[in-house]
Parts: sequence; structure tokens; C-alpha cells
Amino acid sequence: MNELNTVVESAQSAFGQALTPADLENAKALFLGKSGRITELMKGMASLPVEQKKSQGAAINLAKQAIESALNARRQALADAQLQAQLAAEAFDVTLPGRQRGQGGLHPVSLTLERIEAIFGSMGFEVAQGPEIESDWFNFTALNTPEDHPARSMHDTFYVEGGTATAPNLLRTHTSPMQIRHAVQHVKRHRAALGASAEGLFCGTMPEIRVIAPGRTYRVDSDATHSPMFHQCEGLWVGENVSFKDLKFVFTDFCRIFFESSDLMLRFRPSFFPFTEPSAEIDIQFQNGPLAGRWLEVAGSGQVHPNVVRNMGLDPEKFIGFAFGMGPDRLTMLRYGVNDLRLFFDGDIRFLSQFQ
Ligand code: DAH
Repeated sequence: MNELNTVVESAQSAFGQALTPADLENAKALFLGKSGRITELMKGMASLPVEQKKSQGAAINLAKQAIESALNARRQALADAQLQAQLAAEAFDVTLPGRQRGQGGLHPVSLTLERIEAIFGSMGFEVAQGPEIESDWFNFTALNTPEDHPARSMHDTFYVEGGTATAPNLLRTHTSPMQIRHAVQHVKRHRAALGASAEGLFCGTMPEIRVIAPGRTYRVDSDATHSPMFHQCEGLWVGENVSFKDLKFVFTDFCRIFFESSDLMLRFRPSFFPFTEPSAEIDIQFQNGPLAGRWLEVAGSGQVHPNVVRNMGLDPEKFIGFAFGMGPDRLTMLRYGVNDLRLFFDGDIRFLSQFQ
């Protein structure tokens, strides 16, 4: 009996020391295998008298069962430990924030341009696009700007090699050339529709020209409020009976909608541009907020000069209109309270992402 207890105990201890399933199977062989301890004890019974055989057999069976159950328990324990180790190795932290896809957004100046287009669109203005490499004719001459005007100097204008006065030879310094380009196309289209002659100045009937032309413009200039590349948006309204009061009405409405400020004040300050007569600079004044009480210049404007009306192909005795040119970069700075224009063009994502 004692011997059987010792066998069971040493099996339990051997199984306990087995750290892998293979160790455990080897330990099992020592006790339950063909020449294991239990098998040897069974064989030893052959020489015992009958009465002892019965009791010894039952005792050996009990010991065998105890060893088998220790074996199964250890098998289970090793399998559990292995599973735990695997789970721990493969664990991931479900509370970590996920990897998100970066979301882009429109540039603040693009947001302004979209806003300008939507507001003028609601007032019946088309949107026109034109080339950034312009000819001397469209940028200056057709706009009644004399040969000796300082805007034409190399200090102000980027000239392009290989151009001529009529072939593209400079980076447009404003969007005003679009007045001529768009009006000429408009007049041509309606002349053709009427079957009118393509010669001479047009003095027939045509739908009004009502257009804005946003885009990039270039000047030799660079500081906190000037960039060599900047944006402008031109506006033009020409018809038979368009007057300065229409300009005042349209531009006042635009500014109040753009800045969402119904008490915004506007001032049309007499000025000079070669392509308008009379001319005015447009200043705005907020009644509330950090900029309240100051006059801020936002656009140039005026009644289109008769020479410019002629260069559009129209008879200035019949057609009259107004034009304006504003700076979307400046409008964006005023709207969002940005004080350095260069921030718009540095491409710093920390700055740009604030506008999404
Ligand atoms: N082109 C002018 C500039 O860049 C702005 C301007 C003034 C445009 C008067 C106009 C206008 O259409 O009528 O300074």
C-alpha cells in the first residue's frame, strides 16, 4: 500500500515538473508505459496467492486511476497555460485611438472665392476665367493705360521672355484684362446671333454683360500685406442704362452678405484709374467687432471709361457700365482676422486646417 502511495506521489510530482506536453508524455511513460511502474506492479501480481491478487489488483487500479487523473489535470493545465501565453502574445489594445485618414479641405482663399461666386451668382453674374500670362494689349493698352504709366515698369510687372506687345508677354497684374476678353466675346456672340456686321462699334440690342472674373494675379511686391502672387476678382456690368447707383447697390449688398453684417457701412472715395471715369475706391467699416470704426479699403471701382467701352467693341454713346476689382486675399484676412498675407501661401497645415 505504502509503495503504491509513493508511486502515485512520485507520478504527481513528475507530472508537476513537466513544463511541456512532450515532457509530460515522457513522464507518463515512466508510470503508465509498457515497462512503467504500474505495469511492472501488475506483472508482479502473477506470483501472489488468489486472495491477495484481488485486493492488490483493486489497489493498483485505484493508484492507476489517481495517476491518470493527475496526468489529465496536468495536460489541461499545460494547454491552458499555452493558450494564455498565446493570447498575451497576440493581445492588442482596443482602447488605442484608431488610425484616421487625414481629411483635406478648401484653402481659405478658395472658400472666399466660392463665396464671392455664390453671392454674385445670385445677383445674375456669370463667372469667367482667363489666362494668367497676358499680352500688353489686354493688360494695359485696351484698358486705356498709357505707355508711360508706372504700372508698366519692370519694377511692377513680371515680363515673360519671348512675348510681344500683342502675344502674351507678361504675368497679368490684375484681373481687369478679363473685362475686355469677356466683353469682346459677348459682343461677338450677340452680333453673330443678330446677323449684324462684325465691323465697327456695336450699337444694336444685346443682353447686358454681367460678369465676375476671379483669379491669380502677379506683381513685383512682397511684404506682410503684399505677395508676388495674389488674387483678384473683377466685376463688370455693362448695359444701356447701368449707373453708379447700381454699382453702389450691388457692392453694398455683396459686402453685407459676404461679411454677414447688415449694418456694414460703405464709402465710395474718389480716386483714379485709367480705365474708369469717374473712379472710386471702396472702403468698408464694421460697426461691431475688433475692426469696428476703421475704414478698410476693399476694392477699386468706377464707371467704365468710354475708350474701354470702345475696346470692348461697343458704342460708348449707347453702352455704359461700371467695373470693380477687389482682393479676395484681403477679404479673407478681414473675415477671419488674419494679419499676415504670407500665411495663406506658406502651405503650413497647422494654419490651413483651422479653416475646415
Ligand atoms: N485693376 C485695379 C487694380 O488692380 C482695380 C480696379 C479698379 C478694377 C477699378 C476695376 C476698377 O475694375 O473699375 O488696382
